[in-house]
Amino acid sequence: MRNPKSFFIRTYGCQMNELDGDVMAGMLEKRGLQRTDSENDADLLLYNTCSVRDLAERKVMGKLGQLGRSKNRRSKIIGVTGCMANNKKNSLFKKIPHLDFVLGTNNIHQLGEILDDLLTKEEQQIKTDDRFSHELDYSLATRPDKYKAYVSIIRGCNKHCTYCIVPYTRGKEVSRPPESIVLECQQLVDQGYQEITLLGQNVNSYGKDTPETNCLFHDLLAKLDQINGLRRVRFMTSHPCDITPALMEAVRDLPSLCELIHFPMQAGSDRVLRKMHRIYTIGEYLEKIEQFRQIAPNVRLGTDIIVGFPTETDEDFEETYRLMEEIEYSLAFIFAYSPRKGTPATRWKDDIPEEVKQERLHRLLALQESINKKERESMLGETVEVLVEKRSRRDSQLLKGLTRCWKNVLFPGEDALLGTLQKVRLHSFTHSTFFAEKADENPMRLIG
Ligand code: SAH
Ligand code: SF4
Ligand code: F3S
Repeated sequence: MRNPKSFFIRTYGCQMNELDGDVMAGMLEKRGLQRTDSENDADLLLYNTCSVRDLAERKVMGKLGQLGRSKNRRSKIIGVTGCMANNKKNSLFKKIPHLDFVLGTNNIHQLGEILDDLLTKEEQQIKTDDRFSHELDYSLATRPDKYKAYVSIIRGCNKHCTYCIVPYTRGKEVSRPPESIVLECQQLVDQGYQEITLLGQNVNSYGKDTPETNCLFHDLLAKLDQINGLRRVRFMTSHPCDITPALMEAVRDLPSLCELIHFPMQAGSDRVLRKMHRIYTIGEYLEKIEQFRQIAPNVRLGTDIIVGFPTETDEDFEETYRLMEEIEYSLAFIFAYSPRKGTPATRWKDDIPEEVKQERLHRLLALQESINKKERESMLGETVEVLVEKRSRRDSQLLKGLTRCWKNVLFPGEDALLGTLQKVRLHSFTHSTFFAEKADENPMRLIG
């Protein structure tokens, strides 16, 4: 096996995985390897995987099987990182004999070590710890965007929803020290970043495992709001039970904190929620939404929904449908239930036929689309703030930006606006994009 000179990395799954992939890319570049976009040219191939649904895993297994059949594979080093590494561990070597190493989500800092071991010992390597330790140097991340960045604040999840593999692939909650987060955010701002998305499997559990720091999630948000030049803070994702009045007040009071909050319902029937072990009832959930909207009237909500959970009846599903109609989320991610080996939900038969799952999924997607269309219509004529990120790929006359509530906006403007916040007036939209024009700083001038 020869020392690799170039690498290719493909990441699947969530934003946390993307950030982990960016950190690994930075670690390899520091080692002197060159990144390439071509799997054929690279000496080292990294597949940074996701286990959340079966499809995510099948895609990677298909890819790896294909590589095993290709001719020049012996000259390449192939590694699996990410959630499948923790989920499947050694069994990956059985299924994919040409695999060289398996590196878990809590061992990313050992990427260099594993490559060294591989080169000296010439045998398959594996590291998959259950718990995260704070040895990862996030400052190495090669971030793809210039103005917005992900920052990890807590890893792991203690919740154990019965369908979910994440607690098994990421381990227990481990909060990052607040000083380290503030320092990284400050450094990012110094480099020109304006928007930061705080990441964690359950960000609003932040600080519960580290009472000595006396810094819960809303305290952290308040600290970040003090950073001069940090214009926007978002977070992904949260569990309804840990959304506290203090967090609602933070949305109302902190200018940097964006108003779109993920508040995943998962299912609309109490019976199903109980089986999912979501630890709230629909009554409690709706009460929290009501309270949130009262404290912070301009909050907008996002959700995740699973259809076809074991035993979900038509009536259970209609409850989900009705609640989505009632709540009118601004953003919804909707999934068909996918049984994950090792999770408690597999004790129940996956009894909802695939066609029924797909039909329910499509009904909710259509409902959400009509809600979003109504929302977009109601926003026409509004002046909103966008962070200007790049030129549109389709029309180079137009700049592309995101509103605080995650809507895509295109508007004509000069390069000098890149990386700035601009006020624009929304005048039309297509399926998922608004078109706008720059709003005059002081429109009264025109009239008076
Ligand atoms: N920590 C986040 C979710 C992480 S997984 C939270 O609690 O909201 C992202 C989403 O994938 C989940 O919210 C859920 O809707 C979905 N999901 C997780 N496991 C799934 C499974 N086995 N089948 C289908 N969807 C699943
Ligand atoms: Fe999974 Fe539930 Fe944890 Fe979210 S809160 S990561 S759905 S176990
Ligand atoms: Fe997937 Fe792991 Fe993220 S299972 S969704 S990559 S935490």
